[in-house]
Amino acid sequence: MSNDGVNNGRRRFLVAATSVVGAAGAVGVAVPFIGSWFPSARAKAAGAPVRVNIGKLEAGQQIVAEWRGQPVFVSRRTPEALEILRENEAILADPNSEASVQPDYVDPTTRAIKPEVLVVMGICTHLGCSPLFRPEVASADMGADWKGGYFCPCHGSHYDMSGRVWSGQPAPLNLPVPPHSYETDDVLVIGLDEETA
Ligand code: FES
Repeated sequence: MSNDGVNNGRRRFLVAATSVVGAAGAVGVAVPFIGSWFPSARAKAAGAPVRVNIGKLEAGQQIVAEWRGQPVFVSRRTPEALEILRENEAILADPNSEASVQPDYVDPTTRAIKPEVLVVMGICTHLGCSPLFRPEVASADMGADWKGGYFCPCHGSHYDMSGRVWSGQPAPLNLPVPPHSYETDDVLVIGLDEETA
């Protein structure tokens, strides 16, 4: 009788212990599974999308937004600047952004949804300084071969007006293009696109 009592007690303990392990195992599996079900929740936890009104942004100007605590450069390019982009390929390290970060839905050369509006992370891909916006072609301090773009003051990396880095620079890659979309013609949403919606 007493043996049966011990065995029954031990059996109940083993069943309970197995249930706890099973539950822990289920939690371990469930977390990444739920994460893959709801990518927008994960994206929101990392930083909500940011709306930027670009209605007053004029050609040749830039504004700096903030998303996920980092600067995002939003510039409106002139027709001349867009024309120069097509001539830059020979001086660029990754002209089609094959190694650099950008969504599939942007054009390889303009790196934009609307050709004139560039949206790039304002962080140099070398060691993370914030590059300067220098849209003036052949300005006195940048030199005669300067075609307008971004210049990183920390170690001298040059980027074009699409944020594409020149060859032979300390920075290895183009400025990343974050996910973005347009809510209206003038309202840009950084951090939200069809893939993250
Ligand atoms: S951080 Fe920009 S060139 Fe080094």
